[in-house]
Amino acid sequence: MNGKIALSLKNIHKSFGDKKVHQGVSFDLYEGEILGLFGGSGTGKSVILRSIIGLETPDLGEIIFEDQNLVNLTERQLFKVRTQISYVFQNGALFDSLTLEENLAYPLRAHTQLNEVQIHSKVNEMLELIDMKGSNELLPSELSGGMQKRAGFARAIMLQPQIILFDEPTAGLDPVNTARLLNNILAFKKRGMTGIFVTHDIPAAFEICDRIAILDQGKISLVMSTDEMKKSNDPLVKSFTTGAHIQ
Ligand SMILES: Nc1ncnc2c1ncn2[C@@H]1O[C@H](COP(=O)(O)OP(=O)(O)O)[C@@H](O)[C@H]1O
Ligand SMILES: [Mg+2]
Repeated sequence: MNGKIALSLKNIHKSFGDKKVHQGVSFDLYEGEILGLFGGSGTGKSVILRSIIGLETPDLGEIIFEDQNLVNLTERQLFKVRTQISYVFQNGALFDSLTLEENLAYPLRAHTQLNEVQIHSKVNEMLELIDMKGSNELLPSELSGGMQKRAGFARAIMLQPQIILFDEPTAGLDPVNTARLLNNILAFKKRGMTGIFVTHDIPAAFEICDRIAILDQGKISLVMSTDEMKKSNDPLVKSFTTGAHIQ
Protein backbone atom coordinates (compact mmCIF):
# COMPACT_ATOMS: atom_id res chain seq x y z
CA MET A 1 0.00 0.00 0.00
CA ASN A 2 1.16 3.50 -0.71
CA GLY A 3 0.20 6.51 1.29
CA LYS A 4 0.52 7.78 4.77
CA ILE A 5 0.18 5.54 7.80
CA ALA A 6 -2.60 6.71 10.10
CA LEU A 7 -2.09 4.16 12.84
CA SER A 8 0.50 1.49 13.45
CA LEU A 9 0.37 -1.45 15.86
CA LYS A 10 3.78 -2.87 16.62
CA ASN A 11 4.31 -6.21 18.31
CA ILE A 12 1.31 -6.02 20.66
CA HIS A 13 1.18 -8.69 23.36
CA LYS A 14 -1.70 -9.10 25.78
CA SER A 15 -2.63 -11.84 28.23
CA PHE A 16 -5.50 -12.15 30.66
CA GLY A 17 -4.15 -14.37 33.43
CA ASP A 18 -2.73 -17.44 31.72
CA LYS A 19 -4.64 -16.77 28.54
CA LYS A 20 -2.41 -15.30 25.84
CA VAL A 21 -4.65 -13.30 23.55
CA HIS A 22 -2.19 -11.23 21.50
CA GLN A 23 1.28 -12.61 20.83
CA GLY A 24 2.84 -10.03 18.55
CA VAL A 25 0.05 -8.28 16.67
CA SER A 26 1.44 -5.82 14.12
CA PHE A 27 -0.28 -3.98 11.30
CA ASP A 28 -0.50 -0.56 9.68
CA LEU A 29 -3.66 1.34 8.87
CA TYR A 30 -3.31 3.77 5.98
CA GLU A 31 -5.06 7.11 5.69
CA GLY A 32 -8.28 6.84 3.73
CA GLU A 33 -8.56 3.08 3.90
CA ILE A 34 -10.93 0.81 5.71
CA LEU A 35 -9.10 -2.23 6.97
CA GLY A 36 -11.25 -5.27 7.69
CA LEU A 37 -10.29 -7.44 10.64
CA PHE A 38 -11.42 -11.05 10.55
CA GLY A 39 -10.83 -13.67 13.20
CA GLY A 40 -12.66 -16.42 15.01
CA SER A 41 -14.67 -15.68 18.11
CA GLY A 42 -12.44 -14.90 21.10
CA THR A 43 -9.29 -14.29 19.04
CA GLY A 44 -8.96 -10.77 20.45
CA LYS A 45 -10.46 -8.50 17.80
CA SER A 46 -12.40 -6.39 20.28
CA VAL A 47 -9.40 -6.24 22.59
CA ILE A 48 -7.37 -4.74 19.71
CA LEU A 49 -9.94 -1.99 19.20
CA ARG A 50 -10.25 -1.41 22.96
CA SER A 51 -6.47 -1.19 23.26
CA ILE A 52 -6.30 1.48 20.56
CA ILE A 53 -8.54 3.81 22.57
CA GLY A 54 -6.93 2.92 25.87
CA LEU A 55 -9.68 0.78 27.38
CA GLU A 56 -7.17 -2.09 27.58
CA THR A 57 -3.43 -1.82 28.10
CA PRO A 58 -1.15 -4.12 26.11
CA ASP A 59 1.55 -5.93 28.12
CA LEU A 60 4.09 -5.13 25.42
CA GLY A 61 4.23 -3.29 22.13
CA GLU A 62 3.37 0.10 20.72
CA ILE A 63 0.36 1.75 19.11
CA ILE A 64 1.61 4.73 17.15
CA PHE A 65 -0.77 7.54 16.19
CA GLU A 66 0.49 10.96 15.12
CA ASP A 67 4.04 10.21 16.31
CA GLN A 68 2.77 9.31 19.76
CA ASN A 69 2.62 5.92 21.48
CA LEU A 70 -0.96 5.47 22.71
CA VAL A 71 0.03 2.76 25.19
CA ASN A 72 0.16 4.08 28.76
CA LEU A 73 -1.19 7.55 28.08
CA THR A 74 -2.79 9.39 31.00
CA GLU A 75 -6.60 9.69 31.11
CA ARG A 76 -6.23 13.34 30.19
CA GLN A 77 -4.21 12.48 27.07
CA LEU A 78 -6.67 9.71 26.21
CA PHE A 79 -9.56 12.17 26.39
CA LYS A 80 -8.07 13.98 23.40
CA VAL A 81 -7.21 10.78 21.53
CA ARG A 82 -10.82 9.61 21.89
CA THR A 83 -11.99 12.67 19.96
CA GLN A 84 -9.61 11.70 17.15
CA ILE A 85 -10.18 7.95 17.20
CA SER A 86 -13.78 6.97 17.67
CA TYR A 87 -15.18 3.58 18.65
CA VAL A 88 -18.59 2.53 17.34
CA PHE A 89 -20.02 0.26 20.01
CA GLN A 90 -21.89 -2.86 18.97
CA ASN A 91 -25.35 -1.73 20.05
CA GLY A 92 -24.87 1.97 19.38
CA ALA A 93 -24.50 2.61 23.13
CA LEU A 94 -26.87 5.57 23.07
CA PHE A 95 -27.85 7.22 26.35
CA ASP A 96 -31.32 5.80 27.07
CA SER A 97 -32.71 8.87 28.79
CA LEU A 98 -31.55 11.34 26.13
CA THR A 99 -33.34 12.09 22.89
CA LEU A 100 -31.61 11.38 19.60
CA GLU A 101 -30.82 15.10 19.25
CA GLU A 102 -29.27 15.18 22.73
CA ASN A 103 -27.31 12.00 22.02
CA LEU A 104 -25.80 13.42 18.85
CA ALA A 105 -25.20 16.81 20.45
CA TYR A 106 -23.39 15.21 23.38
CA PRO A 107 -19.89 14.96 21.84
CA LEU A 108 -20.22 18.47 20.43
CA ARG A 109 -21.14 19.87 23.85
CA ALA A 110 -18.35 17.94 25.56
CA HIS A 111 -15.57 18.73 23.12
CA THR A 112 -16.36 21.88 21.10
CA GLN A 113 -17.22 25.52 21.68
CA LEU A 114 -20.14 25.47 19.23
CA ASN A 115 -23.24 27.37 20.28
CA GLU A 116 -26.72 25.81 20.48
CA VAL A 117 -27.76 27.04 17.04
CA GLN A 118 -24.64 25.55 15.46
CA ILE A 119 -25.09 22.30 17.39
CA HIS A 120 -28.72 21.97 16.30
CA SER A 121 -27.73 22.57 12.70
CA LYS A 122 -24.93 19.96 12.83
CA VAL A 123 -27.31 17.43 14.39
CA ASN A 124 -29.86 18.02 11.63
CA GLU A 125 -27.19 17.71 8.96
CA MET A 126 -26.09 14.38 10.41
CA LEU A 127 -29.65 13.06 10.78
CA GLU A 128 -30.20 13.77 7.13
CA LEU A 129 -26.99 11.95 6.18
CA ILE A 130 -28.09 8.83 8.07
CA ASP A 131 -31.64 8.95 6.64
CA MET A 132 -33.21 9.83 9.98
CA LYS A 133 -34.32 13.37 9.33
CA GLY A 134 -36.99 14.58 11.76
CA SER A 135 -36.25 11.95 14.42
CA ASN A 136 -34.64 14.53 16.74
CA GLU A 137 -37.00 14.10 19.66
CA LEU A 138 -37.21 10.30 19.69
CA LEU A 139 -35.74 8.34 22.57
CA PRO A 140 -33.44 5.37 21.82
CA SER A 141 -36.20 3.00 22.98
CA GLU A 142 -38.41 4.38 20.21
CA LEU A 143 -35.83 3.57 17.53
CA SER A 144 -35.53 0.23 15.73
CA GLY A 145 -32.32 -1.78 16.20
CA GLY A 146 -31.12 -0.64 12.78
CA MET A 147 -31.79 3.01 13.59
CA GLN A 148 -30.00 2.69 16.92
CA LYS A 149 -26.90 1.40 15.16
CA ARG A 150 -26.96 4.14 12.56
CA ALA A 151 -27.44 6.70 15.34
CA GLY A 152 -24.51 5.16 17.25
CA PHE A 153 -22.38 5.46 14.13
CA ALA A 154 -23.52 9.06 13.69
CA ARG A 155 -22.65 9.94 17.27
CA ALA A 156 -19.22 8.37 16.83
CA ILE A 157 -18.47 10.57 13.82
CA MET A 158 -19.97 13.87 15.06
CA LEU A 159 -16.48 15.18 15.85
CA GLN A 160 -15.10 14.07 12.47
CA PRO A 161 -12.51 11.74 13.97
CA GLN A 162 -9.43 10.79 11.96
CA ILE A 163 -10.08 7.08 12.57
CA ILE A 164 -13.25 5.12 13.23
CA LEU A 165 -13.24 1.70 14.84
CA PHE A 166 -16.23 -0.52 14.05
CA ASP A 167 -16.86 -3.57 16.21
CA GLU A 168 -19.18 -5.93 14.32
CA PRO A 169 -21.46 -3.09 13.22
CA THR A 170 -23.83 -5.26 11.20
CA ALA A 171 -24.21 -8.03 13.81
CA GLY A 172 -27.89 -8.70 14.46
CA LEU A 173 -29.12 -6.53 11.60
CA ASP A 174 -31.42 -7.81 8.88
CA PRO A 175 -30.29 -7.38 5.25
CA VAL A 176 -32.25 -4.17 4.71
CA ASN A 177 -30.82 -2.48 7.79
CA THR A 178 -27.36 -3.84 7.03
CA ALA A 179 -27.55 -2.26 3.57
CA ARG A 180 -28.68 1.07 5.07
CA LEU A 181 -25.81 1.14 7.56
CA LEU A 182 -23.27 0.13 4.92
CA ASN A 183 -24.55 2.90 2.65
CA ASN A 184 -24.07 5.42 5.45
CA ILE A 185 -20.54 4.14 6.04
CA LEU A 186 -19.74 4.19 2.33
CA ALA A 187 -20.92 7.79 2.08
CA PHE A 188 -18.36 8.77 4.72
CA LYS A 189 -15.72 6.56 3.15
CA LYS A 190 -16.08 8.61 -0.04
CA ARG A 191 -15.20 11.67 2.05
CA GLY A 192 -11.94 9.98 3.04
CA MET A 193 -12.88 8.20 6.25
CA THR A 194 -10.22 5.91 7.72
CA GLY A 195 -11.28 2.95 9.79
CA ILE A 196 -10.92 -0.56 11.11
CA PHE A 197 -13.91 -2.80 10.49
CA VAL A 198 -14.11 -5.86 12.74
CA THR A 199 -16.68 -8.26 11.39
CA HIS A 200 -17.88 -11.79 10.71
CA ASP A 201 -20.00 -10.41 7.90
CA ILE A 202 -17.94 -11.32 4.82
CA PRO A 203 -20.20 -9.67 2.20
CA ALA A 204 -20.22 -6.46 4.25
CA ALA A 205 -16.43 -6.50 4.55
CA PHE A 206 -16.08 -7.14 0.82
CA GLU A 207 -18.26 -4.12 0.14
CA ILE A 208 -16.63 -1.75 2.62
CA CYS A 209 -12.98 -2.72 3.07
CA ASP A 210 -9.92 -1.88 0.98
CA ARG A 211 -7.78 -4.50 2.68
CA ILE A 212 -8.53 -7.33 5.06
CA ALA A 213 -6.37 -8.73 7.85
CA ILE A 214 -6.87 -12.06 9.57
CA LEU A 215 -6.15 -12.43 13.27
CA ASP A 216 -5.26 -16.01 14.07
CA GLN A 217 -3.52 -17.51 17.10
CA GLY A 218 -2.50 -14.17 18.54
CA LYS A 219 -1.05 -12.69 15.38
CA ILE A 220 -2.07 -11.10 12.12
CA SER A 221 -1.54 -14.12 9.92
CA LEU A 222 -2.08 -12.23 6.70
CA VAL A 223 -3.18 -8.92 5.21
CA MET A 224 -4.28 -8.59 1.62
CA SER A 225 -6.37 -6.35 -0.57
CA THR A 226 -10.06 -7.20 -0.63
CA ASP A 227 -9.85 -7.97 -4.34
CA GLU A 228 -6.97 -10.40 -3.78
CA MET A 229 -8.85 -12.01 -0.96
CA LYS A 230 -11.94 -12.60 -3.08
CA LYS A 231 -9.78 -14.54 -5.56
CA SER A 232 -7.51 -16.27 -3.07
CA ASN A 233 -7.23 -20.05 -2.81
CA ASP A 234 -5.26 -19.95 0.41
CA PRO A 235 -6.96 -22.47 2.75
CA LEU A 236 -6.94 -20.11 5.75
CA VAL A 237 -8.46 -17.33 3.67
CA LYS A 238 -11.05 -19.69 2.23
CA SER A 239 -12.02 -20.90 5.67
CA PHE A 240 -13.02 -17.31 6.44
CA THR A 241 -14.49 -16.19 3.16
CA THR A 242 -16.65 -19.27 2.75
CA GLY A 243 -17.79 -19.13 6.36
CA ALA A 244 -16.33 -22.57 7.02
CA HIS A 245 -14.41 -21.10 9.92
CA ILE A 246 -16.55 -21.56 13.02
CA GLN A 247 -17.53 -18.08 14.14
N1 LIG B 1 -11.34 -7.72 30.41
C1 LIG B 1 -11.09 -9.02 30.19
N2 LIG B 1 -10.72 -9.86 31.19
C2 LIG B 1 -10.45 -11.15 30.96
N3 LIG B 1 -10.48 -11.73 29.75
C3 LIG B 1 -10.85 -10.95 28.71
C4 LIG B 1 -11.16 -9.57 28.87
N4 LIG B 1 -11.47 -9.06 27.66
C5 LIG B 1 -11.36 -10.08 26.79
N5 LIG B 1 -10.99 -11.22 27.41
C6 LIG B 1 -10.73 -12.49 26.76
O1 LIG B 1 -9.85 -12.24 25.68
C7 LIG B 1 -10.20 -13.03 24.56
C8 LIG B 1 -10.43 -12.15 23.36
O2 LIG B 1 -11.59 -11.38 23.56
P1 LIG B 1 -12.24 -10.47 22.43
O3 LIG B 1 -11.27 -9.47 21.96
O4 LIG B 1 -13.51 -9.95 23.03
O5 LIG B 1 -12.54 -11.52 21.27
P2 LIG B 1 -13.24 -11.27 19.86
O6 LIG B 1 -12.22 -11.60 18.83
O7 LIG B 1 -14.38 -12.24 19.80
O8 LIG B 1 -13.69 -9.85 19.83
C9 LIG B 1 -11.42 -13.82 24.97
O9 LIG B 1 -10.98 -15.09 25.37
C10 LIG B 1 -11.98 -13.07 26.14
O10 LIG B 1 -12.64 -13.93 27.02
MG1 LIG C 1 -15.58 -8.96 19.79
